[in-house]
Amino acid sequence: MYYLDPKIEKLYRIFDQNERKDYLRLDLNENPGGLPQEFINSVLEGITPQFVAQYPETLHFTEVLAKFLGTDISHLCLVNGSAEGIRYIIQAFTSPGGRIVGVVPSYFMFQIYSEMYGRDFVKVPYNEDLTMDINNIISELTEDTQLLILLNPNNPMGNVYSDEEFEQIFVAAKQKQINTLIDEAYHYFYPKTFIKYALNEEHVFVTRTFSKLFAMAGCRLGYVVGWPEGVKMVQKLCTPHNTNAFAMRFAEAVIETPGMLDQLIDGFSKGRSYLIDWLDSNGYRHKGEAGNFIFIEPHTDADTIVARMKSEKKILIKSYKDVGEFGDCLRVSIGEKKYMEQFTSALKEIDC
Ligand SMILES: Cc1ncc(COP(=O)(O)O)c(C=O)c1O
Repeated sequence: MYYLDPKIEKLYRIFDQNERKDYLRLDLNENPGGLPQEFINSVLEGITPQFVAQYPETLHFTEVLAKFLGTDISHLCLVNGSAEGIRYIIQAFTSPGGRIVGVVPSYFMFQIYSEMYGRDFVKVPYNEDLTMDINNIISELTEDTQLLILLNPNNPMGNVYSDEEFEQIFVAAKQKQINTLIDEAYHYFYPKTFIKYALNEEHVFVTRTFSKLFAMAGCRLGYVVGWPEGVKMVQKLCTPHNTNAFAMRFAEAVIETPGMLDQLIDGFSKGRSYLIDWLDSNGYRHKGEAGNFIFIEPHTDADTIVARMKSEKKILIKSYKDVGEFGDCLRVSIGEKKYMEQFTSALKEIDC
């Protein structure tokens, strides 16, 4: 009999239905401006036919990245976007029916992977005022929990944990021998990191990406940080040559170009300040400034705004249903000021 895994048959996935065309996409938390064109040109100048012909070699870039992070290569595994690393961690460190604890709303792939592999994803909801009570996370850390997933900061809520809060959660997880995954896709927009846990403790992973601040989502490059034995297990799952050669070449250039990171952070920060000032002075409640995205409580219907933004203004944003006291609200990616101006002038016209 032809076989198909019933879990896959039943799995509901949304594939991107939007074509970029001339839309301004503020729905994927990309960096809309991207890297400077001269920078792109200079990296491409070094690409030879052999570079394209050869399988990618990861050692050199892993060393560059390790130096950048102040660690060594035994703590790192490169992946084809951090979503791939998350998948491998779930595959290797949980079992069929295994219990995974994570906050909701959050990055949806945690739930998708859990369903794909038949894991039991236990949701810890946010409070009505959109705060997260860490006791609600801790109380779900039962003896049979295999993986705890935290985000720093969380997408889409933008919430973060203080050092004390994180330590409390970590101690509880460690006591019950629960692996912990900290998703830091939005690190650099928000500087506090818990990477020291992944570097100094066992059974803690941090995943990061070059898709967001580094403006390289099209290249697909992320990495898993963890203790050497754990990293080896993740490496075992990687498809051969999973890390794109162009991605590593661009990432190395970004890391090693003096001032590039600061330039990216500066462009983003100016856009964020502009947007927040505008929202404040136009009577909007908002939340989640720690990442490159923000939740906005609209004055009128969220879905209508999303639809009109698309059809009339060529801007793509997302709506979320029933987000605590915000109700149905908008999530908008934050980019340089010129993109935020485009968004605010559209919102002013539509949301009234
Ligand atoms: C919280 C979070 N983690 C991980 C990812 C995956 O990023 P990538 O696979 O591009 O590294 C995203 C993408 O939006 C995200 O929001």
